[in-house]
Amino acid sequence: MPFIDLKAQYLSYQDEIQTAINEVLHSTSFIGGAKLEEFEANLANYVGIKHAIGCSSGTSALLLALLASNIKAGDEVIVPSFTFIATAEMVSFVGAKPVFADISLEDYNLNINTLENVVSEKTKAIIAVSMFGQMPDILALKEFCKNKNLILIEDGAQSFGAKQNEHKSCSLAHISCTSFFPSKPLGAYGDAGAVFTNDDELARKIRIYLNHGQVKRYMHEYIGFNGRLDTLQAAILNVKLKHLDEELVLREQKASVYLENLQNCILPRVKEGFKSVWAQFSVRAKDRNKVVAKLEKAGIPSAIHYPLGLHLQVTFKDLGYKKGSLPNTELVSEEILSLPMSAFLKQGDQEQVIATFNEEN
Ligand SMILES: Cc1ncc(COP(=O)(O)O)c(C=O)c1O
Repeated sequence: MPFIDLKAQYLSYQDEIQTAINEVLHSTSFIGGAKLEEFEANLANYVGIKHAIGCSSGTSALLLALLASNIKAGDEVIVPSFTFIATAEMVSFVGAKPVFADISLEDYNLNINTLENVVSEKTKAIIAVSMFGQMPDILALKEFCKNKNLILIEDGAQSFGAKQNEHKSCSLAHISCTSFFPSKPLGAYGDAGAVFTNDDELARKIRIYLNHGQVKRYMHEYIGFNGRLDTLQAAILNVKLKHLDEELVLREQKASVYLENLQNCILPRVKEGFKSVWAQFSVRAKDRNKVVAKLEKAGIPSAIHYPLGLHLQVTFKDLGYKKGSLPNTELVSEEILSLPMSAFLKQGDQEQVIATFNEEN
């Protein structure tokens, strides 16, 4: 059984996707053009924001957010330690210092109560990751950032389509980023991402940075890079975006089945007023190795998101964090385990996952 059934998804939309690809091939507009503009307009409309800017990946979306916010050497950016490397990696990449904060055990997102301990006069921004498909309390984070005069960036790579009350993920922060990596809730057929903002000036800068700092053809005012979104990916995403809400209903149903049936583990919780898109269905198991072995033996794939907090990664060793410094991150990294999840997860397969998971060791 697949961990994420991308094949079943493709077969469901095959005709629409082939038509969209053929349109791009016939137009020969492979970079930019009408399809990309159409996708960006649809994205902005879906999220409920003024500017949605397609880019080459979730990682380049983060880089663009940091560049447009003028974050540079000497600045500090608070990030959760329990996340994919890209969140902190791009902070270092622009020369700034990532400052790791611990997560809450309630939703595995930044623990707002610990932020006061890590904020300093050098702090310029907070990147709040919406882990496993559920946003942190972005409204509270926004208030915190407003009081401290900080920029709030949402890393919504895992949460496209999620909500806090009526607000969609990627609509509330100063700048938000998402990834359309193939396995994400909205996935391309290759690398892709997007940046979102309501701020005209930030949007202008993001568009310039993703195109080599070019303000007019061959006139360059900034050091940028090639962070553009391929038009073919935009055309594919345009088709998949139309089906996203139907898929989110199915994901919610699969999540409910897991929540009602899995035993002997700590189940994920969705906060009151929040809607998760279940990018991952991740449980905590004390004896994770045994559970993984049991699943593997039955031919069931699983994944560990993530086995080591970023504060303990070799690449950040110069920052001087020691084991024990972020206890919740360390605890969750040792116990977390993601199970097969997608809108196309077959009922029989899910029953097998549950039965195997619940078997006595
Ligand atoms: C939280 C988080 N941030 C950033 C990224 C980077 O996205 P991409 O792989 O599209 O560069 C990912 C995706 O893996 C992610 O999960």
